[in-house]
Amino acid sequence: MCDNLDLDIKVMDTMHHEFLALLNEIKDCKPSEFITLFENMIEHTKDHFSVEEEIMGIHDFYDKQEHSNEHVALLEEMQYFYEKSKQIPAFGKSYIHQYAYDKFKRHIINIDSQLAMFIKKSEIIL
Ligand SMILES: [Fe+2]
Ligand SMILES: [Fe+2]
Repeated sequence: MCDNLDLDIKVMDTMHHEFLALLNEIKDCKPSEFITLFENMIEHTKDHFSVEEEIMGIHDFYDKQEHSNEHVALLEEMQYFYEKSKQIPAFGKSYIHQYAYDKFKRHIINIDSQLAMFIKKSEIIL
């Protein structure tokens, strides 16, 4: 996980760094901590997405609906794996170790980057 995913929008970059830190923590955690850390990651993701959706709403971002739909899909998937991992821990572990980072990276590169560009072009002060 050494890609530079910074978008040069402080509020977004901070949340993305925090997410990556939480993801790394789960990857290295004891089995007994897994569910709690997974819950923390879901809560952080809800806050992260809410902040972006608020920015998009206030500034009437042209692609806010598609961006928000992608947030819903990502969060639903995360919650699905969280629920599954309560019964089958390996299920959650495969999501955390093999999918979560790529999903997150793709969202930043393909979707969040457009919002970041809009914020810069519109000279929005956050
Ligand atoms: Fe984001
Ligand atoms: Fe986003």
